[in-house]
Amino acid sequence: MDPRADQPTLTGPRVRLRPWRDDDVDAVFAACQDAEIQRWTEVPVPYRREHAAGFVGEIAARTWAAGGGQFAVETREGTGPVGAMTLFPPRDGVGAGGYWTGGAHRGRGFTGEALRILAGWAFDELGLRRLELVVDPANAGSRGVAESAGFRAEGVLRQRSLHRGTPVDDVIYGLLAGDPRPDA
Ligand SMILES: CC(C)(COP(=O)(O)OP(=O)(O)OC[C@H]1O[C@@H](n2cnc3c(N)ncnc32)[C@H](O)[C@@H]1OP(=O)(O)O)[C@@H](O)C(=O)NCCC(=O)NCCS
Repeated sequence: MDPRADQPTLTGPRVRLRPWRDDDVDAVFAACQDAEIQRWTEVPVPYRREHAAGFVGEIAARTWAAGGGQFAVETREGTGPVGAMTLFPPRDGVGAGGYWTGGAHRGRGFTGEALRILAGWAFDELGLRRLELVVDPANAGSRGVAESAGFRAEGVLRQRSLHRGTPVDDVIYGLLAGDPRPDA
């Protein structure tokens, strides 16, 4: 059985987070050609169709089976996927989030809302204690998304990550189950 079948759909005022489906491959393949997604995330470059198929299929299923969740973000108006929202499998009550939104859909608050929904699910349904986001300090868009969901910048860890072979600093954003959380 497809492990994604048990994954819930999470609904907010304007967007819903739903499990990825095999017919999302074309949308993911198209979105991940975007220069900003390739600059700030670890998607493979060049991004091929088989990468998209692996993401919505095997990677999504594996993430869910391991206690996290990979979600397609779509608007409640019924568009196809506008972006991706992920909870990586938590450990010891601590999970990390990740996201991207297609170039045509940015600047409308969809990602901030999707992250607030993900955080609500992670704390209220999964019982996590803490959520983290690992962000390049220069990624203003991602910092805005984190802050719009109530995450606090807790510090900069110098040269903590390698991005396509180059050392980069990380800002660690944190949100605790008991922290004030903006409504979705
Ligand atoms: C970062 C990204 C997800 C933002 O998506 P988005 O849909 O435009 O974000 P939203 O419209 O939900 O904005 C949420 C908040 O961030 C702010 N924001 C968004 N882009 C911003 C930017 N470039 N500079 C400053 N603030 C920005 C918004 O003003 C908003 O703040 P508000 O709630 O106070 O109004 C999108 O640009 C993207 O996919 N980038 C490439 C991939 C990426 O960087 N992923 C994150 C890796 S850590």
